Amino acid sequence: MTEAAPTPGSIGQQLKVLGAEVVLSLESVDDKTALEALRVEVLGKKGKLTKILRGLAGVAPEERPKIGHAANEVKAAVERAIEDKAKLLDQAERQARLDRPQLDVTLPAFGQPHGHLHPLAATMKEVCDTLCGLGFSIAEGPEVEDEYHNFEALNIPQNHPARDMQDTFFVDGGRVLRTHTSPVQIRAMESQQPPLMIIAPGAVYRHDDDVTHSPMFHQVEGLMVDRHVTFRHLKGVLTAFLHRLFGEDVSVRFRPSYFPFTEPSAEVDIACVICGGDGSGAAGACRVCKGTGWLEILGSGMVHPAVFEHVGYDPEVYTGFAFGIGVERVAMLKHGIDDIRLFFANDLRFIQQF
Ligand code: DAH
Repeated sequence: MTEAAPTPGSIGQQLKVLGAEVVLSLESVDDKTALEALRVEVLGKKGKLTKILRGLAGVAPEERPKIGHAANEVKAAVERAIEDKAKLLDQAERQARLDRPQLDVTLPAFGQPHGHLHPLAATMKEVCDTLCGLGFSIAEGPEVEDEYHNFEALNIPQNHPARDMQDTFFVDGGRVLRTHTSPVQIRAMESQQPPLMIIAPGAVYRHDDDVTHSPMFHQVEGLMVDRHVTFRHLKGVLTAFLHRLFGEDVSVRFRPSYFPFTEPSAEVDIACVICGGDGSGAAGACRVCKGTGWLEILGSGMVHPAVFEHVGYDPEVYTGFAFGIGVERVAMLKHGIDDIRLFFANDLRFIQQF
């Protein structure tokens, strides 16, 4: 079957049908993508309008302008209809956006959760900040220390029980893991002349492991040397320090004691932070101070002349006091923790409580 030759009438008819089709199709278009597809389908290079106009070739030349005119009108009408539809769609979209629930800018933000200092790091910082506030500066020394600085220069002779194999971790070549931070005193005095006011925070090591002892723990050592430093300075500075650390109301007492590197020596106690100093607990005696009402918190004393002689300070000219405090013990007392090993187990259920 051959196609019938197109007539101006039939082309005009096709154009009308196309126009009507577009109006109908537009009704069901409800987004921009479908609208663009329709535009291409009708007006595109290979679209329906082009296809209809191909028929013009078979139309008598004098009829062509009339049909061309009709075609332009249909084309313009279709374009207008599509444009109008586009505007309607834009409007509907804007309205939908306005109708959506408003963004509440007052809601709290979801941030990344922040970490925080480990309870020991926080306690170490508090101890050091407090002492720095009293005028001390920070000094450092090695954790693998020679026996001279760890023992000898601190007036702990060769056969002293503190050197016992049971307490000290020996390394090699006369070196040990430092058993206390006191050797930093020696290093500070070797490198500086008085007046001197230093603290030495850091890790120390002892062969010891139970609920109150860990093979690695932390101390802060303190040393003040000048002309005319007396035991009154020791008492004044340490009392001020402990009041700032544990509260202005806490009672402090100085108890005679013995350390090889100080003479006289004193251990310092504070009133028990658990029972408030009266020694009683829920079931009889307070478990923490064992009913004494006091807690030993640090060791101290006037620097022994033999120590000054080792570092070349003249003990006839200079005097000084020293002290050492255990950081784990302070943290345990401040937070009521009864097992030192909790600090090192890295259990987040414990750490996150601080
Ligand atoms: N070094 C001592 C210890 O590890 C603590 C100490 C006591 C340090 C008395 C001192 C002090 O400076 O005077 O147990």
